[in-house]
Amino acid sequence: MLYSSILVACALPLAIAAPFCTRQSNSTVNATCDLSALSQPASTLTPPSPDLHLVLIAHGEGTQNYTCATPASVPAAIGAVAQLYNASCQAASPDVAQNNIVQAAAIGKHFFSDLTTPDFDISGLGNTKAKKIEDAPAPNASADVKWLRLQAETADSTSQVKYVYRLNTVGGVAPASCEGRAEGEVVTVPYQAQYWIYA
Ligand SMILES: *[C@@H]1O[C@H](CO)[C@@H](O)[C@H](O)[C@H]1NC(C)=O
Ligand SMILES: *[C@@H]1O[C@H](CO)[C@@H](O)[C@H](O)[C@H]1NC(C)=O
Ligand SMILES: *[C@@H]1O[C@H](CO)[C@@H](O)[C@H](O)[C@H]1NC(C)=O
Ligand SMILES: *[C@@H]1O[C@H](CO)[C@@H](O)[C@H](O)[C@H]1NC(C)=O
Ligand SMILES: *[C@@H]1O[C@H](CO)[C@@H](O)[C@H](O)[C@H]1NC(C)=O
Repeated sequence: MLYSSILVACALPLAIAAPFCTRQSNSTVNATCDLSALSQPASTLTPPSPDLHLVLIAHGEGTQNYTCATPASVPAAIGAVAQLYNASCQAASPDVAQNNIVQAAAIGKHFFSDLTTPDFDISGLGNTKAKKIEDAPAPNASADVKWLRLQAETADSTSQVKYVYRLNTVGGVAPASCEGRAEGEVVTVPYQAQYWIYA
């Protein structure tokens, strides 16, 4: 596919929750945006079954949230909030993406509808509520949150999505302790991830 795009350089310092992007130039780039030949980066997660179709790779940027019951406790996960961007073309055409950071269109939001229900509200796909069914340590587990395999709760979803994999995570790991935190303090840790979405 040949398409014209506005090129954007995004500095994504993890200390800043919102992306800081500067428009740099404009050019016409070729990208296939074809996801059919893509396979996931290696992990111990159960791979998608052959009947599933990869319909979107979303780039997520936001925070993993934790709470500290007392300064003596260990941070407990209470969910995450992230903006989602359509990164299908970048993922499908890494050569194009490498030389031109193609602007990924905002496409929706990831949040938790309750403590154990990650929700993906994606323009064009609908709403997906999911459950974590498997996890795997990220390659750099001390720095990056786990990779996940989430199964859609199809009865509670408006989308056709069946599985969501959280891969290529950056950041988001909880601090080791709650030392120095107030009782009930919420700790937000910036993270990024790719969400590979299958229907
Ligand atoms: C971007 O570049 C293309 C190809 O040169 C041109 O047709 C288009 O008008 C440009 N768009 C903007 C917003 O400058
Ligand atoms: C982009 O695609 C057009 C039309 O298929 C082709 O003529 C051109 O050489 C391609 N450009 C690049 C940089 O691949
Ligand atoms: C998580 O943190 C974000 C800030 O990134 C905040 O907007 C959101 O309300 C928090 N959610 C919970 C459940 O604490
Ligand atoms: C993501 O972007 C590509 C390229 O513009 C487009 O073909 C695809 O439909 C988009 N995906 C969604 C779910 O909007
Ligand atoms: C893992 O992440 C930490 C924190 O960002 C970094 O200091 C360390 O070098 C990383 N290790 C590897 C093997 O990349």
